[in-house]
Amino acid sequence: MNLRQRQTEDRAAVERLLGAANLTVSGLERTVGWVIQEGQAILGHVALELTPEVAVIRSLVVAPGAQGRGLGGQLLDLAEAQGGGRTLALRTETIGPWAERRGFGRTPVGELPASVRTTTEFEGDLCASCPVFAKLAAAPGGHAAETIKSAVRQRYGSIAAQGGSCCGPTAADRKGCGCGELSLSVGYSLEDLAAAPDGANLGLGCGNPIALASLQEGEVMLDLGSGAGFDAFLASRRVGPQGRVIGVDMTPEMLEKARGLAARHGFSNVEFRQGDIEALPVEPGQVDVIISNCVINLATDKAKVFREAFRVLKPGGRLMVSDLVLQKPLPAAMRQDLDAYAACLAGALLKQDYLQAIRAAGFKQVEIADEAGYDFGDPTPEQVAALQIIDPGLTPGDIRAAAAAVARLKVSAIKPLGSGSPVRGCCD
Ligand SMILES: C[S@@+](CC[C@H](N)C(=O)[O-])C[C@H]1O[C@@H](n2cnc3c(N)ncnc32)[C@H](O)[C@@H]1O
Repeated sequence: MNLRQRQTEDRAAVERLLGAANLTVSGLERTVGWVIQEGQAILGHVALELTPEVAVIRSLVVAPGAQGRGLGGQLLDLAEAQGGGRTLALRTETIGPWAERRGFGRTPVGELPASVRTTTEFEGDLCASCPVFAKLAAAPGGHAAETIKSAVRQRYGSIAAQGGSCCGPTAADRKGCGCGELSLSVGYSLEDLAAAPDGANLGLGCGNPIALASLQEGEVMLDLGSGAGFDAFLASRRVGPQGRVIGVDMTPEMLEKARGLAARHGFSNVEFRQGDIEALPVEPGQVDVIISNCVINLATDKAKVFREAFRVLKPGGRLMVSDLVLQKPLPAAMRQDLDAYAACLAGALLKQDYLQAIRAAGFKQVEIADEAGYDFGDPTPEQVAALQIIDPGLTPGDIRAAAAAVARLKVSAIKPLGSGSPVRGCCD
């Protein structure tokens, strides 16, 4: 018996096998597949359709005469091994209980990475009750979510504690998102810089979402990942005494700094709450405008962030975010590097996945307001050495080329009128 990769000449036999099991052959050319062959006969087949985050298991079938020999388990194990640490997703009407015995869990489609919607099995709208089973990947790079959050907290805690900007003249000084970008070059005016209290602008943003937000007097604005409060303080003047600004951040040192500045400079309509943007400390339907500046790429579950944003916005409310996204996937070593994660590189999503995650949360009119390249600068020898521990073959040139695929994006979106609660996945 031979378990091997599917070849073009296997196509007819595989189609017969799938046809006999009433499984579709559509989109098979978008998959990589394996067959079990015995003599001249193809006894089993499995295929994977891959996105950067998900491996969709397709066409898992064993010929009727070969069932009961454990071939299905072998094919599933192979698919799992070939998934490369991605979330595994299986849409099935028949073998759900069998998959559950093998560690898969029934999973709402909305909890799968957004890029699953680009695959043959999941594109477009699904039926209300389609059963999906998944084995979720560990958080990005294979780290536990709390490991990543702790690295992020440490990084931004130490930037806040330093008191000044993280941005120094050399690459070694650049320790956070936005470092190396001048605030003026990402869309702030001299007036903005003068209006915020000294110490609030740590140079960590990668855009100016306030400029996009067309804030009105009396509105309630929420800033996801408010840092030392720069955007929150600028917004405070726009919403005026009848309005309110809430900043949420998970790093205690950032909160301390922001709260200190608010108290010293009399920003009575601004409040900073400690919390995770993946579980916002805000009641549903309270907020007119959500902004975020170079933060969502740091979240371990971006889909959850956008669902939370949707939950707390009023119907008709606006989302205006600046963030970093990828034009192409990073090398695996860079995805695993916690420093690269905390510096806003390794956690960044592909642009299309980012936009899809916003749409999947229920937002409409998802539009790119601005898009530009982003300069991470040359990697330091320490950064190169750290990455080469993970992958000795990685050169400084590879790292530079990968970082050059990062873009700054400004996106706006609307929570439609009449939507009272978050849109859930089709199988919730
Ligand atoms: C790059 S800084 C941007 C700060 C601010 N938006 C600015 O433009 O100055 C990222 C901030 O997001 C916060 N942060 C990262 N992940 C977070 C999460 N999951 N929940 C809450 N805050 C988070 C960090 O503590 C840090 O203050």
